[in-house]
Amino acid sequence: MIVLGIESSCDETGLALYDTERGLLAHALHSQIAMHREYGGVVPELASRDHVRRALPLLSEVLSKANLDKKQIDAIAFTEGPGLAGALLVGSSVACGLAFALNKPVIGIHHLEGHLLSPLLASRPPEFPFVALLVSGGHTQLMRVDGVGRYELLGETLDDAAGEAFDKSAKLLGLDYPGGPAISKLATTGNPEVHVFPRPMLHSKDLNFSFSGLKTAVLTAVKKYPETLTEDDKANVARGFVDAIVDVLVAKCQSAMKQTGLKRLVIAGGVGANQQLRAALNAAANHHNPKKRFDVYYPELEFCTDNGAMIAFAGGMRLKANPNLAT
Ligand code: KG4
Ligand code: ZN
Repeated sequence: MIVLGIESSCDETGLALYDTERGLLAHALHSQIAMHREYGGVVPELASRDHVRRALPLLSEVLSKANLDKKQIDAIAFTEGPGLAGALLVGSSVACGLAFALNKPVIGIHHLEGHLLSPLLASRPPEFPFVALLVSGGHTQLMRVDGVGRYELLGETLDDAAGEAFDKSAKLLGLDYPGGPAISKLATTGNPEVHVFPRPMLHSKDLNFSFSGLKTAVLTAVKKYPETLTEDDKANVARGFVDAIVDVLVAKCQSAMKQTGLKRLVIAGGVGANQQLRAALNAAANHHNPKKRFDVYYPELEFCTDNGAMIAFAGGMRLKANPNLAT
């Protein structure tokens, strides 16, 4: 069965075709980053209008890449939330319109479920059960995943999401939106000893996170410079920030592995693309004490951030579990 996936929750229009037998057939993405950059963040109204412009050309593109006719689509999956209301409405309208025209079912997918399952699209997918660290612009959660649809929340952020902390701290340093990749790149040239920022909730017994204090620490550090920050100053602040957030994320993952006794950790969401986080998680997974070792899995880089493939895949899993949906 072939599922068309449509993602439009924020500033990326992503479409993809997933075959429940053959795997991912094609995917295409249009990112609106360049359009929103001059405003320093996503402008919801512009995002919705751009999704309208992009959705159907991207549909033609995936059909042509997969060498398929739209009549061969068996079901249409779309992101039903969470996200920007207008942007979501575009994806849902396109999905429902196509479903009506083709007389096929629509499957609403929770955006976070899409992220959570995206590592299963990799060439070396993890087996269930696993612990998932979901780190995106809007969410930071640790979940126990026993199968498709069998999710247990272990912990989450009490305030800002990890991606939000990256973006806001980057903005304080005058970096362009989205700040995550920019602050991460700048940090590679920074001195780790100039700013040692707090590691919020590092020693709390639970698996929750809090990042708003870290952002405030970055602001306080920036304000202490009497003049405009040099590139070196910015790199040092960036390094302090990245080291602190990565330490907390890794420590909480280690606690989650210990608490659940599971041996597989899966990373999902935009911050999962972060190279410092990946390096630190790989080191933690390869602990010198064999009892503390675990395997860590990442989505392909292009499927860390928002995309249509994860939605098509989640729709495919739903259809497999309930084939009656397509009759
Ligand atoms: O999952 P995603 O594409 O969208 C949401 O569902 O939120 O995540 C976007 C977030 C943004 O905050 C962005 O700055 C962050 O992921 N991000 C990164 C990196 N790439 C994207 N953060 C740190 N390092 C990166 N390389
Ligand atoms: Zn997302």
